[in-house]
Amino acid sequence: MEIREYTEADRGTVFRMRKLAFASSAPPPERLVTPGRLGLLAERDGQPVGSLLINDFAQYFGGRAVPMGGIGGVVVDPHARGRGVASALLDTALRTMREQGQAISVLYPTVPALYRGRGWERAGVHERVDFPMDRLLMSPKAPRRLTTRRATADDLDDVHALYNAFAATADGLLDRHAPTFAPEQLLDLDVATVAHDDEGVLRGYLTADRERERLKAHDLIGLDLDTQLTLLAELTSWAGVLGVVSLRLADPAFTDLLTSQAIHNDVKTSQWMLRVVDLPAAVAARGWPNAEGLRPAAVDLDVVDPHAPWHAGPRRLVVEDDGVRVEPGGTGAVRVHARALGPWFSGMQSTHALRRAGLLEGGAPLLDRLVAAPGTPRLADFF
Ligand SMILES: CC(C)(COP(=O)(O)OP(=O)(O)OC[C@H]1O[C@@H](n2cnc3c(N)ncnc32)[C@H](O)[C@@H]1OP(=O)(O)O)[C@@H](O)C(=O)NCCC(=O)NCCS
Repeated sequence: MEIREYTEADRGTVFRMRKLAFASSAPPPERLVTPGRLGLLAERDGQPVGSLLINDFAQYFGGRAVPMGGIGGVVVDPHARGRGVASALLDTALRTMREQGQAISVLYPTVPALYRGRGWERAGVHERVDFPMDRLLMSPKAPRRLTTRRATADDLDDVHALYNAFAATADGLLDRHAPTFAPEQLLDLDVATVAHDDEGVLRGYLTADRERERLKAHDLIGLDLDTQLTLLAELTSWAGVLGVVSLRLADPAFTDLLTSQAIHNDVKTSQWMLRVVDLPAAVAARGWPNAEGLRPAAVDLDVVDPHAPWHAGPRRLVVEDDGVRVEPGGTGAVRVHARALGPWFSGMQSTHALRRAGLLEGGAPLLDRLVAAPGTPRLADFF
């Protein structure tokens, strides 16, 4: 089997495979190869048999954006399934991501077993909550409403900067950098509202699309209470024509602390899996806000990862004044399997849970203290 980077000439082939696998009714994209995305095509005897896509993303952990390869569009033609094509594509993707400096990788799995076999494991959520309008109307009113207006091209940089100021405080969110993300797409949305304070400084924004029965809200980001409640008031202004607002949870504190949902809510949760592609690089790239009180300290790991031999074997995780790093060597006292690294890195699972799942052996309280952070790691983007 040959695996190569796909080119624009493969557009028809790749689109056919994706359409068949995902029953997409969308028309073929104008271009297959777009900036910030690299695709792989597997061929057997010169015939295409499978494909995947690596998105160039970066994901916040501990306040720093860690380069991340977001895998999507994993497809194998029906006649070629069950013969290791997807596994071979993932192995090539791992090497490619490492070469590109993507220290971690994330994907939304339809078939967890496939990805577990290559070291990915569940490490966070993407959530959308459906609010009946009458519940939303029970929310508090803004003590002071900010000025709001529709966003223009002149606002795009400020909106992106404000989003990042917020995203850096929540583990798992993307930094939405260009060219993978095109900021001007915001202007195509039905709702793109910006909220400013009296000095004209951007304090928050709301993006949404009007669907037949509901308002589908994408981002509702406000840096303070007045801004959040001002944007919430805009959601409730749809009462009368729409009965439901579906809100993507970038900031769960907004719904947890400000709105009045019922005991039972309809939340649609998508789970994502994370794989540490290169442990020393991932540890160097992440922020470690808890390290301050822990240094100096170290834990000796034995990383079991046959699919990423570059970081396998005895490794020592060291916490010192100049930061946290992973270096070769040590006693290998704590055995960690590849699948344990993702949920540990994201803060989704404790070493106790990983031990119970057979993914870690030995005592490593330092690993828990280092990543401990409030809240569940989450993404607000789907790919
Ligand atoms: C899922 C898919 C990509 C797998 O491709 P494949 O080439 O058949 O996968 P592999 O042969 O490399 O299988 C690797 C492992 O995953 C497991 N696996 C593959 N497909 C599976 C499925 N549908 N359900 C459960 N396990 C599956 C295999 O049993 C194998 O495990 P093993 O190594 O223990 O035997 C392919 O079936 C497909 O294109 N499906 C439709 C699209 C889709 O679901 N894509 C995934 C998007 S996230």
